[in-house]
Amino acid sequence: MIYARIAGTGSFLPGEPVSNDDLVARGIDTSDEWIVERTGIRTRHLAARDVTSSDLACEASRRAIAAAGLQPEDIDLVIVATSTPDCIFPSTATLLQSKLGMRNGAAAFDVQAVCTGFVYGLTIAEKFIRSGSHKRALVVGAEVFSRILDWSDRGTCVLFGDGAGAVVLEASDKPGILATALHADGSHHPILCVPGAVASGQVIGDPFLRMDGQAVFKFAVKVLGEVANEVLAESGMEAGAVDWLIPHQANIRIIQATAKRLGVPMEKVIATVDRHGNTSAASIPLALDLAVRDGRIRAGQRIIVEGVGGGFTWGAALLQF
Ligand SMILES: CC(C)(COP(=O)(O)OP(=O)(O)OC[C@H]1O[C@@H](n2cnc3c(N)ncnc32)[C@H](O)[C@@H]1OP(=O)(O)O)[C@@H](O)C(=O)NCCC(=O)NCCS
Repeated sequence: MIYARIAGTGSFLPGEPVSNDDLVARGIDTSDEWIVERTGIRTRHLAARDVTSSDLACEASRRAIAAAGLQPEDIDLVIVATSTPDCIFPSTATLLQSKLGMRNGAAAFDVQAVCTGFVYGLTIAEKFIRSGSHKRALVVGAEVFSRILDWSDRGTCVLFGDGAGAVVLEASDKPGILATALHADGSHHPILCVPGAVASGQVIGDPFLRMDGQAVFKFAVKVLGEVANEVLAESGMEAGAVDWLIPHQANIRIIQATAKRLGVPMEKVIATVDRHGNTSAASIPLALDLAVRDGRIRAGQRIIVEGVGGGFTWGAALLQF
């Protein structure tokens, strides 16, 4: 039996942390108290103007590849989950491949599932590896969400940040990913979207992120509970058998409500949203890597990673680290 196992993790946050008070100082009509109470976010990172998703992805990927004890050319599949690609085409994954100096002809493509993008990418890579067609996949979530924020909309601009997280997934005869579930329901697209497009040399429509915060909140808690239970059922496990829950890092109150629904105590939840805000597809691999590097996550432990985002999309994976 071929499993897909995580062989290394890496992450990258650009520049210095930007605090809630820094946002107030920049003229945003908000307060540290409001943001912390409603979201748990204390700081986020904002990429410099000339830094792109593939730049952030490259830093995170180098760290993940080094942690796996590999070289970039050992990778035969590159998947980048992003909603803020460097350009319309080519894909951010091929630009990343070039920046990593990979000339081995590895397959490379992007996945667009917004904040569930990393879980989608991980699941796709797992299928490639289990089929035997590929041996080592680099799966990255990388975003510069600061580029699609309306900085005059305090209901959204305080929530998001930039960053990247990456894992190397490797074929193994030891258990790795045990169960996955992916879902989408496009009828919910209006409650979280960037509706604009580029056509005929112009931006057509609204190029900024728009969100109905309360509708998103309710939907997120519901499906994060359901999809975690789905992967538990698929692998024949109870929530108590899981060492760590890593939900999408959007809002501490969504994370707490999800953990409560699942009966998972907060001591078993990795929450890093306070440090980097919602980095969309980057949030789960960022949280995973921070917890691996600070020693909380150890070899052999069971982890559920789960995401929800625009589309709406949602999904989860249960894995043995
Ligand atoms: C966005 C969110 C924090 C807003 O919290 P909320 O309790 O729903 O707040 P509301 O939108 O009802 O706004 C309440 C008040 O706070 C104000 N407010 C909104 N943003 C504010 C800010 N950054 N600072 C200060 N006040 C703010 C509103 O204007 C409103 O004021 P009013 O009562 O005078 O009209 C919350 O809905 C949420 O977290 N939703 C999920 C968002 C998310 O995670 N999205 C990504 C999922 S992938």
